[in-house]
Amino acid sequence: MKIAVLAPDKSSADHVQAVLGTGAGSEHSLELQEGGVELIEELAKKSFDLAIIHSLCNDDAGLAALESALQASPNMAIIILSDNVSPTFLLGAMRAGVRDVLQLPLQSAALRAAVRRLERRTSANVPTGKRKTIAFIACKGGSGATFIAANLGYSLATLGLNVALFDLNLQFGDAALFLSDKQPANTLADVAGANISRLDASFLAAAMIEVLPNYAVLAAPEELERAAEVRPENLDVLLNLAATQYDYVLLDLGRSLDAVSVKALDRVDLIFLVIQETLPFLRDAKRMIQALTSLGYPKTKLRLVVNRYEKGGDIELEDVEKTVGLPVYKAVPNSYEAVSASVNQGVAVALIAKHDPVTRALDEMARELTELPAAKNDHWFGHFLHR
Ligand SMILES: Nc1ncnc2c1ncn2[C@@H]1O[C@H](COP(=O)(O)OP(=O)(O)OP(=O)(O)O)[C@@H](O)[C@H]1O
Ligand SMILES: [Mg+2]
Repeated sequence: MKIAVLAPDKSSADHVQAVLGTGAGSEHSLELQEGGVELIEELAKKSFDLAIIHSLCNDDAGLAALESALQASPNMAIIILSDNVSPTFLLGAMRAGVRDVLQLPLQSAALRAAVRRLERRTSANVPTGKRKTIAFIACKGGSGATFIAANLGYSLATLGLNVALFDLNLQFGDAALFLSDKQPANTLADVAGANISRLDASFLAAAMIEVLPNYAVLAAPEELERAAEVRPENLDVLLNLAATQYDYVLLDLGRSLDAVSVKALDRVDLIFLVIQETLPFLRDAKRMIQALTSLGYPKTKLRLVVNRYEKGGDIELEDVEKTVGLPVYKAVPNSYEAVSASVNQGVAVALIAKHDPVTRALDEMARELTELPAAKNDHWFGHFLHR
């Protein structure tokens, strides 16, 4: 990575260089700059991947300078090293688009970890406008919303994107179990509860279960009383931060439209509504769509996903569209064996059945979302769904 270090004096800049230059596998080109905030605009013009700003942007004026530099160079990541890590400052930094704030005195491991997170991210090189936050709602229990969210996340990650899945299904969340048998050290209650003032990129990364180096899951709280700790207003802070760290942020909302999920829905680009092709699902889908539109979410954000699709069933996709009043965005085939094995073993279906129709449908969905080209001979589903 091409990294600029901006510091008010030589010894601070040298210290950063020593930390990054001595770590294992460091293959960065570093340019050290001594000076003040006014140099940020200059840095922005020189297409660095990362600018590390040492104790210069500790207040609103500094953040405003950063914000305008980022407008000029939106793909440059910024890490601030600062004495000020007050919640107000952290929030301001996130709003300005800063990727990470690390407290001074500098801890070498924290800076190296922050740079490593960025390396993963820049390798996929997703333009800012193409990053997305997507909510998944099961129109009826057992539709497969969690399965699809967890495994679409995996497909997105295999395309090289940096992906996070947050389990916001506060009472019955089980998303982490679809991907990993690791016990979560922390859950949503730890990051979006009373500890919100401690929340920064490192804290969030440490709270999540790593599924792949570029795919992590934040589990839902285990106990009901801990679920109550998650405050709706904290969702804004969490999602702001997540948007600076990940290309795709997937939210498993379950079925509930409560204050927390509504806060999340306010922030999403797309809402995936997962149904199956039987009447009870269609009825509930209509009710869910009515509820969502009455809450002010436009139909253009909604994407209807028919799960466990079987060609030639009683109800055809056209019937679904007529009844529900939304086009079918994707159909994910029914595949009992592969999906059961994935769910029972707690690993992504792609790891168990790479060529299963379900895996292929999810890979195709990931590519379409990211607008990356389809692999050859992989249009099997296009035969009956031309969209
Ligand atoms: N495409 C599929 N083919 C076969 N089985 C599937 C498929 N998708 C999901 N399933 C099965 O359906 C079960 C329920 O899926 P999942 O837990 O994702 O539903 P949900 O909508 O999240 O439900 P909940 O309301 O409990 O959150 C899974 O355990 C899995 O066994
Ligand atoms: Mg679920």
